[in-house]
Amino acid sequence: MSSGTFHKILKPLLFTTFIVGCFVIGFLMYYKPSTGWLNHLLKFSDSVTNGHDVFTKKNESSNSKNLIPQISPEKKEKNKTVILVWLLPFGSNREMDICSSAFNIEGCFITADKKLYNKSHGVFFHHRDIHRDLSNLPKSPRPLFQRWIWMNMESPTNSPKLPGINNLFNLTVNYHQDSTVQVPYGSIIPVEPQENFVLPNKNKLVCWIVSNWNPNYARVKYYRELQKHIKIDVYGRAFGKYIGKQDFHPTISSCKFYLSFENSVHKDYITEKLYNPLSLGTVPVVLGTTRQNYENFVQGDAFIHVDDFKSPKELADYLHLLDKNQELYLAYFKWRKHFKVQRHTFWTEHACKACEYIRKHKEYRVINDLIKWYWG
Ligand SMILES: *[C@@H]1O[C@H](CO)[C@@H](O)[C@H](O)[C@H]1NC(C)=O
Ligand SMILES: *[C@@H]1O[C@H](CO)[C@@H](O)[C@H](O)[C@H]1NC(C)=O
Ligand SMILES: *[C@@H]1O[C@H](CO)[C@@H](O)[C@H](O)[C@H]1NC(C)=O
Ligand SMILES: *[C@@H]1O[C@H](CO)[C@@H](O)[C@H](O)[C@H]1NC(C)=O
Repeated sequence: MSSGTFHKILKPLLFTTFIVGCFVIGFLMYYKPSTGWLNHLLKFSDSVTNGHDVFTKKNESSNSKNLIPQISPEKKEKNKTVILVWLLPFGSNREMDICSSAFNIEGCFITADKKLYNKSHGVFFHHRDIHRDLSNLPKSPRPLFQRWIWMNMESPTNSPKLPGINNLFNLTVNYHQDSTVQVPYGSIIPVEPQENFVLPNKNKLVCWIVSNWNPNYARVKYYRELQKHIKIDVYGRAFGKYIGKQDFHPTISSCKFYLSFENSVHKDYITEKLYNPLSLGTVPVVLGTTRQNYENFVQGDAFIHVDDFKSPKELADYLHLLDKNQELYLAYFKWRKHFKVQRHTFWTEHACKACEYIRKHKEYRVINDLIKWYWG
């Protein structure tokens, strides 16, 4: 082959091959298969090689042969009910797959990522975190399908009454039985299988742990009278005897009676002050809403109500009587044969239950007069 032939034929041929090659490489670099055999092949090979399904997020740095584009969180949440937690500290923007694992509630995507606002089916607001002038609520217009969720677990006495919260929310999540979604502080649920309740060792008669001391509170007035007639072991910040986390439960269970005195008296406002001693094998002496109201939540023979007595002295006399009569005392634990206490998990359970509600109830709904309903 002469050099002339090379210049005339081979050179253009090599040049053309080079150009076509560039196109092919460019095409393969930028073409993202969407459907069809290539995509199937890629998915298949991927699932065979690392056992993940296509929706599993892969470790970017370790997977160099990652031929499938990452599935974005937006895709993942596509078929789910999205609840955006607007006003609770999350510390993380990442997806929380808690509803299914912790509460058996399927189809919910709980997020704190405010970029998902326009796609969120529900936006969740913790009352205590709402600014008085509502300045920290979303600024963007509310999508027509979106529901705003008002969540509060404090009693009306201890919740700021914010002007401007009427006609804003579509559902309430609260301990109150008339809430759209009721989440109490605790529930009495069946024990299965039955277990034998064993009374913990007791070396104290009456105990009380309290941090928030307000002389105007009914509970403080009652305590002052009661302690004249019976020995009460007191703990907590109010008495300069702080109880650490690890001592909290053992302290309560070492007492025969515990003063489950609520900070304020409101219908359905029954807190962990009742459920802690109930679950720890201590008889609660309650001060709060009426006995009848307590009995909506807890067996009537599981607790003692201060209203059952004409005076703190009479209550003290009765507690002394129970102290000397083990049979009478043990009658307060009869319910334990078939039931136990279930606690509820602050805010995650509330968010998941709100999501569950939204999935089941598509109808239009507005909470008009939240202020009147909650504060009366
Ligand atoms: C991803 O892979 C890198 C390198 O193999 C490893 O150091 C890292 O811990 C992995 N990260 C996760 C989240 O698995
Ligand atoms: C999306 O949800 C609907 C109803 O909840 C279900 O029938 C459907 O199979 C789901 N689709 C996907 C892709 O998961
Ligand atoms: C939501 O959509 C509105 C337009 O309807 C837009 O102005 C706003 O920036 C969007 N917000 C977010 C967080 O994407
Ligand atoms: C939710 O409440 C707002 C404010 O009252 C109302 O404008 C909106 O239409 C309601 N949305 C739904 C889906 O019920």
